[in-house]
Amino acid sequence: MREFNVCIVGGGSTFTLGFLKSFVRMKKDFPLKKLVLFDIDQERQDVVGKFGDILYREQFPELDFSYTTDSKEAYEGMDFVFMQMRAGGLPMRAQDEHIPLSMGMVGQETCGAGGMAYGLRSIVEMIKAVHEIREYAPDAWILNYSNPAAIVAEALRREFPADHRILNICDQPENVVRSCSRLLGCSWEDLDPVYFGLNHYGWFTHIYDKHTGEDLLPKIKELIKKQGFLPQDAEQRDPSWLDTYGMVETMMKDFPEFLPNTYDQYYLYPDYKAETLDPNFTRADEVMAGREKRVFAECEEIIAAGTLGDKFDDISDAHAEMMIEVAVAIAFNKNNRHILIVENNGAIANIQDDAMVEVVCELGANGPRPMGVGNIPQFYLGLLVNQVSSEKLLVDAYYENSYQKALEAFTLNRLVNDGKKARKVLDALIEVNQGMWPELR
Ligand code: NAD
Ligand code: G6P
Ligand code: MN
Repeated sequence: MREFNVCIVGGGSTFTLGFLKSFVRMKKDFPLKKLVLFDIDQERQDVVGKFGDILYREQFPELDFSYTTDSKEAYEGMDFVFMQMRAGGLPMRAQDEHIPLSMGMVGQETCGAGGMAYGLRSIVEMIKAVHEIREYAPDAWILNYSNPAAIVAEALRREFPADHRILNICDQPENVVRSCSRLLGCSWEDLDPVYFGLNHYGWFTHIYDKHTGEDLLPKIKELIKKQGFLPQDAEQRDPSWLDTYGMVETMMKDFPEFLPNTYDQYYLYPDYKAETLDPNFTRADEVMAGREKRVFAECEEIIAAGTLGDKFDDISDAHAEMMIEVAVAIAFNKNNRHILIVENNGAIANIQDDAMVEVVCELGANGPRPMGVGNIPQFYLGLLVNQVSSEKLLVDAYYENSYQKALEAFTLNRLVNDGKKARKVLDALIEVNQGMWPELR
């Protein structure tokens, strides 16, 4: 059987630990020959890397595992590059969230003003990184889930128009399907969803029983009314994620036609979200106090012990598994269904062809084949066309170094929605993003 070489960009990410463990658990499905971690922050990556040395020595000794800050060493000979960088790190995520909230607007990792701020940082870093990857691994599949994936996908589409081995992915639609399976008491793999939208802005029109074809969405709606909505792995989640999932019930009351992605709440209730999120303690603060500390403490503990011993916790990690399954679908031409971010080209019939949309695709060795959903109803069309325009203008701002285009992108975004507010928050974000954003003139 073929074995694959994989590189993870953002080797020091809080999500790498889950990947390292999942590669062991999934080694039969995704046989690896070589795994390299790459990061620009040697200190973070060394901790995760040293954990990996111990893990693989004990659980996967035949794997050639290493970590580096040298891009040639990282990318040469790779079949797959998983990208999970956070341009500016979690401290800049905190700024993205705090600054708009302090001005009465939603401050969120990927949506609204904060998402656009992160977007401009990510475009700069991602374009640089993908050029480097292509220098050393011209045929590698690049699986990007660095955020904000919608904006990154639009930028990569423009920068690498002829490159058909770049795929942008988000785990959240599948997370919502997994939540439905928890409600229904079935396996998420028994569900066959129909989905349309943009990244972090979409809806399920149907969730079929894969075996019978029955549409389970009416039943799911009833269950949400009675029991609320929880992440599949609710027991492992921080409180803010439980609130986020809880809002699905509210969205279903107000807009009962389709089942929403959890991220839709920022667009449907921008005032409520801006009023109720704490501008001094946002999700970034929660992550830095929680997941980041936990991950690095777990690594340090194993490194100090020199062995996994009985401290090793190997609970399954849905995020890592999902990304690895995407690689497996490509590696073995599975033609499995995944919800992916692709150039529209008619998949959503009444949205422009060159929008990056999120829909169900069959995925195999030749890439994703999107499944069309036809025309979407006016309400959803209005929301999405507004957001596509905002995202495209932001990418224009990057290419043209244009303050004016950035101002238009911010003004158009539903979570800002006002020219004066847009200028104020944009100017504040320019200030803190110096050296990380393109210059806007
Ligand atoms: P993190 O800050 O803990 O980790 C990111 C790592 O990337 C850091 O170690 C940092 O040094 C590194 N990095 C930054 N710029 C880099 C560059 N130019 N090249 C290489 N490495 C670089 O952040 P995190 O919370 O672990 O999240 C990592 C990323 O994964 C984020 O972009 C996050 O939004 C994304 N993510 C996406 C999904 C999805 O479904 N799309 C799900 C989870 C996480
Ligand atoms: C989901 C989304 C990702 C996002 C992540 C944030 O998985 O799909 O795009 O980055 O949540 O998680 P966090 O725990 O860092 O807030
Ligand atoms: Mn996502």
